[in-house]
Amino acid sequence: MQKNIGSKLALYPMPLLVIGTMVDGKVNWLLARHSGIIGHDRVMVSLAKLHYTNKGIKDTKILSINLVNEEMLKKADYVGSVSGSKIDKSDVFEYHIGDSGAPIINNAPVVMECRVENNYETDTFDNFIMTIDNTYVQEENLDEQGKIDYTKFSPVLFEFPKYTYLRTGDTIGNCLRLDK
Ligand SMILES: Cc1cc2nc3c(=O)[nH]c(=O)nc-3n(C[C@H](O)[C@H](O)[C@H](O)COP(=O)(O)O)c2cc1C
Repeated sequence: MQKNIGSKLALYPMPLLVIGTMVDGKVNWLLARHSGIIGHDRVMVSLAKLHYTNKGIKDTKILSINLVNEEMLKKADYVGSVSGSKIDKSDVFEYHIGDSGAPIINNAPVVMECRVENNYETDTFDNFIMTIDNTYVQEENLDEQGKIDYTKFSPVLFEFPKYTYLRTGDTIGNCLRLDK
């Protein structure tokens, strides 16, 4: 029997992301849980307007979305706990600058370098809608066909009700070919 617990955000777990931007010419990192896919060629991140990161995104229109593996989790958690407006977070991760100008975490398993196309603003959030300029993948996370193999690393997931990090589990079937 289901119980109605009211209007709740229940779309979890979600992949944990480190967002990289340049703010006034300096690298800044932020931890994000709220993201989405729009159609087949756009992604979205939902960031509170007060964050320092938002200034950089609005000025440059360029950002990186770095998937988080367990190795990066401690640093990722840290960049979600302090603001670049107070503390310099530029050296938390080793990085290089991507082809479109966003800071890219060297050891991140998968990174999308994105360009802002639109901002669907709500009262307190910027919801940046972006196209993807480049996708950088650690070579060991690619299969023989050059596709990203998500079983080769452990993308960290996040869930809100208990505020915890989870790891992805086993492959349990082939999509649309469950019997194969
Ligand atoms: C697990 C976790 C997930 C977070 N997800 C988001 C998010 O999706 N959107 C958001 O606006 N802030 C999110 N935050 C908060 C920011 O990462 C945090 O306030 C950060 O310090 C802002 O950095 P900045 O001011 O340097 O941009 C999250 C924090 C944590 C710990």
